[in-house]
Amino acid sequence: MVKINIQIKFFLLLTFVLGCQKDEINNCDDGIGIYKFSSYPIGTAIDFNILFTDTLYKSIALKQFNSITAENIFKAQYLHPEPLIFNWAEADSLASFCQNNNKRLHGHTLIWHQQLPQWILDYKGSPSDWEQLMKAHIQTIMSHFRDKVKAWDVVNEAFNEDGTLRNSIWKQKIGVGYIEKAFEYAREADPNALLFYNDFNLESNPTKRRSVLALLNSLRNRGIKIDGIGIQMHISTYYPEPTQISNSFNEIAAYKYKIHVSELDISVNPLGKDIVPSEKIFNEQANLLGSVIINYNQIPKQYQHGITFWGISDKHSWIRNFYNREDYPLLYDDNYLPKPCYCKLIKTL
Ligand code: XIL
Repeated sequence: MVKINIQIKFFLLLTFVLGCQKDEINNCDDGIGIYKFSSYPIGTAIDFNILFTDTLYKSIALKQFNSITAENIFKAQYLHPEPLIFNWAEADSLASFCQNNNKRLHGHTLIWHQQLPQWILDYKGSPSDWEQLMKAHIQTIMSHFRDKVKAWDVVNEAFNEDGTLRNSIWKQKIGVGYIEKAFEYAREADPNALLFYNDFNLESNPTKRRSVLALLNSLRNRGIKIDGIGIQMHISTYYPEPTQISNSFNEIAAYKYKIHVSELDISVNPLGKDIVPSEKIFNEQANLLGSVIINYNQIPKQYQHGITFWGISDKHSWIRNFYNREDYPLLYDDNYLPKPCYCKLIKTL
């Protein structure tokens, strides 16, 4: 009798263990939600207007992701349209959405050369006036979202591909020290926030990556605390090689910066050719995503801030509009069906 009981228990245990294995999931079943497979946050960029008008988009956002970055509405052009006017309404409503649904909200972005309001582009003043403008911009926004946003992209895209500093409006008006000052003002506004430097091609261009690291390390040596680096990873099936990805993750983690893969998408048509989307193309895309995940899983836990995709469905991807080309860079297709890269993701996480 006792023996039979043990056999039944063993059978039940075996059934339970097998039932929990990831391979049991139907190939492209998205019924569980990506972030449930992950030990670090999995995020998406959210288009505010689509979130509140498209119920399918909203339900995928809620079910699949536990971190959210506003695709546009936290940028200066939207949030700070006039010197003394901050347009909080939409950003607040996204922040409440995140709070109510237990999603981490990532602040993107405070200081950038793009998507600036006209008044900043036209502003006339001395370097110290510009510094005050930058300080007020950073500190007003960070104070407003103090309990709601725990991590910020303080400076975005400050470097050129050859490793020199981009001659952005901030550098022109304040000087090369603007990055240091931006981080100082941000730290003052919210001492507990995680502060990130965010940029593209850091995985594929070691010259640029090393210049970023050299600058951030030098700021650290001067007592400025910078918590992490956002690697945007707008990549494609043409590049980078998996070894480039692992080298970049390892190099950044070795310097003790958290890594946020902050804007991941994988173009299948970077050269803008006439293409026919095929299984082969989508499998290549899935394999590259697989190697991003495998390499990210290998960095020490304390440096894994999370992986954020730059959107949900191919039909809303910024790449189609921005580069005016046919492309399919995201996890869901135009009909909100999960693609092979979705399956690869949940199997690899
Ligand atoms: C993009 C948005 O996705 C577009 O909707 C907008 O028109 C332009 O900006 N690097 C960044 C992001 O840091 O903020 C950009 O987002 C994509 C490139």
